[in-house]
Amino acid sequence: MSENIDAARQQKKMAEEAKFLARTPSEEIGPMYPVAKPEDRGEDLVAGADGVAVDGQILYIRGRVIDLTGAAIEGAEVEVWHADPHGRYPHPCDMNPAVIDPNFTGWANMITGSDGGFRLRSTKPGPYPTSTPGWWRPPHIHFQVTTAHDRLVTQMYIPGEALNEKDELLMRHVRLNQDDRVTARVIALDEGMEDDALSIEFNIVLPTPHTIAAQRKDRAKS
Ligand SMILES: [Fe+2]
Repeated sequence: MSENIDAARQQKKMAEEAKFLARTPSEEIGPMYPVAKPEDRGEDLVAGADGVAVDGQILYIRGRVIDLTGAAIEGAEVEVWHADPHGRYPHPCDMNPAVIDPNFTGWANMITGSDGGFRLRSTKPGPYPTSTPGWWRPPHIHFQVTTAHDRLVTQMYIPGEALNEKDELLMRHVRLNQDDRVTARVIALDEGMEDDALSIEFNIVLPTPHTIAAQRKDRAKS
């Protein structure tokens, strides 16, 4: 009897999840949020300071900011910051002894279009050591997304990285079975992209008052 009840609950949960997307999990902002932001809002961080190209493998990131029903959120502000290929941030408190790429500005700020989309051309971040002995952060990208109704700070991971399974922050998401919502998807390179570039997609789900109300109404019905 209880097995039937459990199965019914599971089916209800699956139906609800199919109808409404889950919010993208938040993550700590970390100590490397830029204190001095470059004037160029930038959708291309490869061009670098004074137009000098930065080091490393070119990384294309594209995604959409969407609500719980999958509808586009236009006008969302998408801030991105990440380490250079050597694992260095252009931040005065970065104590990583690795050589920094002086041309990498490390921060971009985009506004989503009518399809909720954003695009960034950058360089693949490198791993870096934390203050905990033996713990190295895997390559990751920091996001701060602000809409008219919400603000999300999170970190995005790249699938297949060897350090992913040893990262305490990502493992927290694994334990909560939500790591797929903070992990990008590798996609095919578009025409014109460099042969050795990496292209990834990362969609961000945020609630709106309308979609929260719809979800509550749906729950009340079932
Ligand atoms: Fe970081």
